[in-house]
Amino acid sequence: MSAAYPIVHHEYDVIVVGAGGAGLRAVVGLAQAGLKTACLTKVFPTRSHTVAAQGGISAALANMGEDDWRWHMYDTVKGSDWLGDQDAIQYMCREAIPAVIELEHWGVPFSRTPEGKIYQRPFGGMTIHYGEGTAQRTCAAADRTGHAMLHAMYQQALKARAEFFIEYFALDLLTDTDGSVHGVLAWELATGQIHRFRAQTTILATGGYGRAYYSCTGAHTQTGDGGGMVLRAGLPLQDMEFVQFHPTGIYGAGCLITEGARGEGGYLTNSKGERFMERYAPNRKDLASRDVVSRAMTIEIREGRGVGPEKDHIHLHLEHLGPEVLHKRLPGISETAKIFAGVDVTKEPIPVLPTVHYNMGGIPTNLHGEAVICTDGRTDTVVPGLMAVGEAACVSVHGANRLGSNSLLDLVVFGRAAALRCAQLLKPGAKHKPIAKDAEEKSLARFDRLRHAKNGSRPTAQVRLDMQRTMQNHAAVFRTQQSLDEGVARLKKDIESFRDVRVSDSSLIWNSDLMETLELDNLLGQALVTIVSAQNRKESRGAHAREDYPERDDAHWLKHTLAWRSGETEVKLGYRPVHLNTLDDDVETIPPQKRVY
Ligand code: FUM
Repeated sequence: MSAAYPIVHHEYDVIVVGAGGAGLRAVVGLAQAGLKTACLTKVFPTRSHTVAAQGGISAALANMGEDDWRWHMYDTVKGSDWLGDQDAIQYMCREAIPAVIELEHWGVPFSRTPEGKIYQRPFGGMTIHYGEGTAQRTCAAADRTGHAMLHAMYQQALKARAEFFIEYFALDLLTDTDGSVHGVLAWELATGQIHRFRAQTTILATGGYGRAYYSCTGAHTQTGDGGGMVLRAGLPLQDMEFVQFHPTGIYGAGCLITEGARGEGGYLTNSKGERFMERYAPNRKDLASRDVVSRAMTIEIREGRGVGPEKDHIHLHLEHLGPEVLHKRLPGISETAKIFAGVDVTKEPIPVLPTVHYNMGGIPTNLHGEAVICTDGRTDTVVPGLMAVGEAACVSVHGANRLGSNSLLDLVVFGRAAALRCAQLLKPGAKHKPIAKDAEEKSLARFDRLRHAKNGSRPTAQVRLDMQRTMQNHAAVFRTQQSLDEGVARLKKDIESFRDVRVSDSSLIWNSDLMETLELDNLLGQALVTIVSAQNRKESRGAHAREDYPERDDAHWLKHTLAWRSGETEVKLGYRPVHLNTLDDDVETIPPQKRVY
């Protein structure tokens, strides 16, 4: 097969796949450490999905009231419904402060307080004094924080002379017979050439797979390509049943309306005009964690108190904030609401609905970003040569539910941690040993089969739509055994139908038909392990709300799920312990408690 596809060969110390916030932060650290680094990305770096992050990045800077990273840690552990690893959470919350200051020094144009400090707004689940009051912890550049960060980090990467391979689509990991990873095979979209990137370490920073669902706040490029590659390499993904629905996606369009809107004083109402969150979360109300707010909205709609002719959505009010605040703090979503909902936010509420936003699950890693597997339910083994960061990874700092503004933080803290680990362990310029050819051959055979699938009867878009509908209807905010069992059966049919996929364009240059098909292949694998993991977990925890098992069950389920794709439609499950220990004596373990807001 490689004869049909001449391969361009490259050698680096480290390859980073993906140029969003996590990938770029890793790239900067690697290049600064003198490691020969290449970053491969399927879109131009500043078009990566981090650009769309709105509300901000959390750090206990205490610029606008008292704060402490230990309170941030407490909130994150509680937000995770105790599924987060406490050593990693401690690391993230403590490192948050220097991480944000570093971004400031790199030129991120944060909004400012009158004294010139970084502006911080309240966000869901973020408190002071261990749940007693509201924290102002989320550092914001108006409501375009991700945009500001991504541009600053790309500039830093260029300054550090990192090399970019832009509009290259990673096809598969290059693995050896012992399971170690030695780089990736990639398809250059502009020329159609295939490239082999050999590296001592490959860092996957490929983002989430929100597009497995029908309605999603993420870009159409959010197809979890790293997770797809990992499953094909015979490695597991972790905690995939935990899919976050953001409470305020625009009804119909799905575009994000930042939680910062509620942080600035916005609130939700039902058809009776009631501020219903007061009933569900008497203390934190509209600023309870996202899983709690999304469930409350879904219940209101189900019980007939939704708004609109179909009573199928909820209103988000910002009118009372006044044009000045809206213009200064929320200009981006004011424009989005106008374009996608036809709403003038100074005068009318925005129609919103819980919408898929974030994957808590991903490639299991330790807090250095090294990919791990655990086959005996107890001990981790590092996968040689493979790391993962950002939404593609599951460190796990978000556990069963992520708090808003902890994602941008996760990107920079663990992007940096991965670079530090590489600098510690790798020898710049070390020789690459020869590896087995099989992985490359198998990958090219898959590529070639899909490229020439012109006789199939099912267009890629049709298979994708079926998968998205299955996931949307059967692995939603609320789940039952019946809905999940039906969903698994349907999804297996969707996957089987992919055998008959039709790709009309067999060219190699700018072939979006083939690229979308390869992306769909990645999505299908992740959809499968998601819904099977959800079917298996018989408790409610964080974003995984089982109506038939409404309570959290620590006795049986205080553990991470690992899911391997063991056949086309088969999944093998295993478990990994949750780290309830902290890193050091700076803070004590937070024992599991009932989670109320
Ligand atoms: O609502 C938002 O601005 C999203 C933030 C996040 O997901 O962290």
